[in-house]
Amino acid sequence: MSAARKFAIGAAFVASGLAALAAHGQDDLFDFIPDGGRTLLGDLFAAGTMAPDEVLGSSRSREEWLATIQGLDTGLDPVQQDTLAAYLAATMPAAERGGQTMDTGGHALPRDGRDLTLEYCQSCHIITVVVTQDRSREAWLGTMNKPSHVEIKTTQDERAALADYLVLNGGISIEDVPIDLRAGGATY
Ligand code: HEC
Repeated sequence: MSAARKFAIGAAFVASGLAALAAHGQDDLFDFIPDGGRTLLGDLFAAGTMAPDEVLGSSRSREEWLATIQGLDTGLDPVQQDTLAAYLAATMPAAERGGQTMDTGGHALPRDGRDLTLEYCQSCHIITVVVTQDRSREAWLGTMNKPSHVEIKTTQDERAALADYLVLNGGISIEDVPIDLRAGGATY
């Protein structure tokens, strides 16, 4: 086994420890990473601002979803509105897309870009490498197709959803990253 491989396994062990913390509800460490479409949608369902039966079975473009959202009193800022629109365009109608879902206030909602980032982007390097990058959609998709990333088990739809989320919500300033997630940011 190469030293690099051993190192990667060590890093994966540390990262899966962090992921386990998140899975047990102690995800405060990751609060600095903005909500994705799944959480934003779940909140709007809970508030009664959007109706599940009108959303979950609909197929609309990102522009159409954005217009719908802008016509409602959601309280979301423009980046959140766009994040939700991109999520809905990529994941609805949920039953026809076949991706994994997560229980969100009693609704089975497809995973969003934040969920995918937490799940797939911290086993080889710290998540900071990902969320501090300010890049275009093409650049994100390019990284996903590099030899170092091409084996990650995501569908093309999920990669697109991840890219859309990170274009809107990445580029987080290092000052906003918890100290525990700064050290060793470039361990590879
Ligand atoms: C299988 C291991 C592995 C996983 C999982 C992984 N990465 Fe990486 N990543 C690497 C390696 C190795 C490098 C440094 C070498 C390189 O850039 O190819 C890197 C570097 C990067 C960089 C900086 C270099 C660049 O491409 O400009 C970004 C951004 C990045 N990864 C994003 C991601 C995202 C997003 C995910 C989750 C979908 C992810 N990584 C998951 C192995 C991984």
